[in-house]
Amino acid sequence: MTQSLFPRRAALALIVCAVPALMLTARAQAPGSIKGAPASFTAECSSCHVAYAPFLTGQANWRGIMSGLDKHYGVNASLDDKSQHEISAWLLANAATSGRRAAASPDFRISRSDWFIRKHSEVSAPVWKRASVKSAANCGACHSGAARGDFDEDSVRIPK
Ligand code: HEC
Ligand code: HEC
Repeated sequence: MTQSLFPRRAALALIVCAVPALMLTARAQAPGSIKGAPASFTAECSSCHVAYAPFLTGQANWRGIMSGLDKHYGVNASLDDKSQHEISAWLLANAATSGRRAAASPDFRISRSDWFIRKHSEVSAPVWKRASVKSAANCGACHSGAARGDFDEDSVRIPK
């Protein structure tokens, strides 16, 4: 009896697992979210791009970004007051505080920071422009763990 039930249960488990996996693929986002992030951050800051981990840049850049959400790289990403306050406080509390990462950069962009440019020196200009990459801001194209804030060099894979 248990034996004959097993395949059916296995099939059901497959469907249960495959459906959310397919939905994630469709949204082109890696599963998971950044440890300790308030729900508002994950909800509001990952709808257009991967939610950038706070430690990727310093307070100066986060202040600049959070105070200009109405004119955010060509889009309006304004928030209600509660989310604005909660997300800003969490980003500032978890921002990079020392070294290159803490430095301000042009347009408050992580992708234009000195540390970023240095770490990506082996990525050539045409690669950034590939349809599969589109932009240096599209971290998840090459870092499968980007949504979790995982940029381990062992898991980097540049798409064709
Ligand atoms: C309505 C869409 C939208 C929402 C919502 C949004 N962003 Fe963005 N964001 C963009 C676009 C578009 C860019 C530019 C992407 C590019 O250059 O490829 C961007 C870029 C960024 C960058 C710079 C990336 C780089 O180049 O280093 C940061 C940091 C950023 N967003 C943070 C946030 C935060 C924090 C939130 C939540 C408060 C947020 N974004 C919500 C659309 C959005
Ligand atoms: C076109 C592919 C690509 C994109 C897009 C990309 N990266 Fe990378 N990233 C790489 C490569 C390649 C390396 C170098 C890996 C190595 O040193 O072997 C790297 C290295 C890194 C490192 C250093 C890892 C380590 O262990 O030293 C960090 C941090 C990082 N990237 C963050 C980001 C962030 C944040 C974004 C988005 C704003 C991003 N990357 C976008 C390809 C990419």
